[in-house]
Amino acid sequence: MNDRQHPSIGLEVSSLPTPSLVVDLDAFEANCSVLAGHMARRGLDWRPHIKAHKSPLLAQKMVEAGAIGVTCAKVGEAEVMAAGGIDQILIANQPSTEQAWLRLAELQESAWAAATIDSPEHLELAKVASHSAGQSIPLLIEVDIGMSRAGVRSTEDAVVLAEKIVASGLPFAGVMGYEGHLLTISSTDEKSRAINEAVSRVVKAAEAIRDSGIDVDIVSCGGTGSFEITSAIDGVTEIQAGGGCLMDRFYREMCGVDLANALFAVAAVGSRPTEREAILDAGWKALPDKIMKPICVDINRSEVSQLYAEHMRLDLPDGSDPQIGDRLKFIPGYSDATTVLHNEFLGVRDGVVVDVIPLAARGALQ
Ligand SMILES: Cc1ncc(COP(=O)(O)O)c(C=O)c1O
Repeated sequence: MNDRQHPSIGLEVSSLPTPSLVVDLDAFEANCSVLAGHMARRGLDWRPHIKAHKSPLLAQKMVEAGAIGVTCAKVGEAEVMAAGGIDQILIANQPSTEQAWLRLAELQESAWAAATIDSPEHLELAKVASHSAGQSIPLLIEVDIGMSRAGVRSTEDAVVLAEKIVASGLPFAGVMGYEGHLLTISSTDEKSRAINEAVSRVVKAAEAIRDSGIDVDIVSCGGTGSFEITSAIDGVTEIQAGGGCLMDRFYREMCGVDLANALFAVAAVGSRPTEREAILDAGWKALPDKIMKPICVDINRSEVSQLYAEHMRLDLPDGSDPQIGDRLKFIPGYSDATTVLHNEFLGVRDGVVVDVIPLAARGALQ
């Protein structure tokens, strides 16, 4: 950021090198305020997932808006966030190797960085790593609430594991579940019913652990596609919704989320083989069609009809005639799959690049 030497600083979107990934900073900050305000009104903490933007600078904007810290998927991401000044980090995942646990133990020197576990084997790894680093890794228990991914499968297992964590001497911080399999239910009533049923499983696990005499500070759930429903459920203490600060077609059209589009890819017309087709210089290596196709915001009723590795074919409606070299803006189908292909965001205000924002945790997969 603030790299005044970067050749894109000061350029308008219409003259950017392409393909580029652009974040409208006003829209991003507005989305952060909406999410932070929503959680504050419901008396909840906001711990946004950073998997979509992977940037400590954008994470700092979330914290400035009111987030208590961030959620990450990997220890490597947590290391990058901590190095960028974020000091409250939840790894909503189970580190699986002794190296990852050791790094997480060492990370405690610079941040409160917790991981979620679902078995005594993880606890053993956490103990060994904590002991050799002279640190204590805070632990949460992940509860499977229907996604059939990781997580203990019963309340009883959650209680037994919580007791083992407490007996180990490592800090037990709470429970987590993610209702990611329920985001795209189209009926609002059915979505609400299903999410309430799923999230009640993690809330019940927390209550059963408390009944066994153990404090449960954190009950962490919720993503962008579910935060409005999940944040109204009694017993939840924090929400992990993060990708909505960038937004994409998936969140808006499949999850019914109404936040501002802050993320755009910019591509240039490279060829006009026929009147009704434009070939652009961004293919699936820059702007993939994972979950949904990208959509062009500059030409109504145009349609991305094919993505090649380095080219896109855009079918043009009557009356549109983009010229070779014209830059067109696209909303990605799915932000996570798009951002990960780029080294940096160009931060834009009023259509002009004001910042270059590295995706510093891109590739931090371990
Ligand atoms: C554990 C966990 N929490 C939260 C989320 C939601 O993240 P986002 O709000 O970026 O969609 C996800 C998405 O995959 C997740 O895996």
